Amino acid sequence: MVCLGNICRSPLAEGILRSKTSKFSNFEVASSGTAAWHVGKSPDKRSVDVALKHGIDISKFRASQFRKSDFDTFDKILVMDTSNYKDVLSLAPNQKAKEKVQLLLSLDTSSKEQEVPDPYYGGLDGFEKVFQMISKACDAFLLTQVSSK
Ligand code: 4NP
Repeated sequence: MVCLGNICRSPLAEGILRSKTSKFSNFEVASSGTAAWHVGKSPDKRSVDVALKHGIDISKFRASQFRKSDFDTFDKILVMDTSNYKDVLSLAPNQKAKEKVQLLLSLDTSSKEQEVPDPYYGGLDGFEKVFQMISKACDAFLLTQVSSK
C-alpha cells in the first residue's frame, strides 16, 4: 500500500488489509510513502483514531519510503493516487514490475472515484471517508484473490 507520506492513507490501508487477511497465513501486507519526509514517524493521529474507532490498531506502524527492492518483495503494489502511480512506476526496473502497480480504487468497480484523496489538510470526516473507500476496495481486492486461487 503506497501513498505520499505514509502517515495518513497507506497506514490505514495497511491496517485495514492486515485486519481483513489476519485469518489467512499467505498474505504479507506493508505500506510506504513515495516521499521520505516522515520516515520513522508514527501515523497521523487522525488515521490512528479513525482506525481505532473500527477496532484496528495502527499506532505502532512507522513510516518508510518506497524503494526499488519492494518490486521484488511484493506481488502487488496498490497506490492511492495517480501521482503515487507515476512516482512508483518511475522506479520500476522492468515491465513485470510495472504490471504489479495498480490504483487501489481501480479494484472497486463500484467506485466513482479513481483516487483516494489526501486527507492531510482536511478534517476528521475526510479520514473516515478515506477509511470507507479503502475498506471497500480491500474487499474487492480479496475477492480477486479468492477467485484467482
Ligand atoms: P499521506 O498524506 O500521503 O496519505 O500520508 C500526506 C501526509 C503528509 C504530507 C502530505 C500527504 N505532507 O505534505 O507532509
